[in-house]
Amino acid sequence: NKKAFIFDLDGVIVDTAKYHFLAWQKLATSLGIHFTHEDNENLKGVSRVRSLELILGLGNYQATEEEKQRWLQKKNEDYLTYIDAMDESEILPDVVKVLDFLKTKNQFIVLGSASKNAIPILEKVHILHYFDAIVDGNDVSNAKPDPEVFLQGAKKVKVENENCIVFEDSVAGIQAANLAHMTSIGIGEPTILQEAKFNFKDFTQIDEAFLSKLINE
Ligand code: G6P
Ligand code: MG
Repeated sequence: NKKAFIFDLDGVIVDTAKYHFLAWQKLATSLGIHFTHEDNENLKGVSRVRSLELILGLGNYQATEEEKQRWLQKKNEDYLTYIDAMDESEILPDVVKVLDFLKTKNQFIVLGSASKNAIPILEKVHILHYFDAIVDGNDVSNAKPDPEVFLQGAKKVKVENENCIVFEDSVAGIQAANLAHMTSIGIGEPTILQEAKFNFKDFTQIDEAFLSKLINE
């Protein structure tokens, strides 16, 4: 049996969540808006546009469409300066080990990310070749928690939703996986990702026996 293992990118494969945070915080500060790590949890997995709206909401800030476009561009430019310096050392622990194991078991590996920068990041850290299909922020119109990104991923590799396993570090992403009737695996803090079917701190906590069970059940 062939399952599809769908990986979120930011915060699951690479630790870009910290760069998103830094870039958003810089923008928020320039607008006089107080933006904390705690606020940032609600931005994980959320599209760029929606993230800006949430930040402006924190400061009760009324912005024009023109301002919003300018700030979105500014945030992404700042974000890209961090991304530019990335290499494979920023792949999170044991991610490659898990990818290798799934490959030897002939499973589908899919990316399901809200980011429009997903492909350049996968190229930078040299793991693009692992993926049988990629769905990113350029493909979807409904952001997580809408299940669209994962449904498209399943469709691309022609696997039933029930046979898909999703790795996610965001609340919105776990909700999206659950709505898609896929097996949701939270990567990160279990108290934050309570809605996940399984929880792990990171990939070092996931062993081959667990993966084999997912493949064979
Ligand atoms: C991911 C991240 C979010 C980010 C979104 C869009 O879901 O978790 O923090 O806002 O992608 O990313 P982008 O690279 O297109 O701005
Ligand atoms: Mg994420």
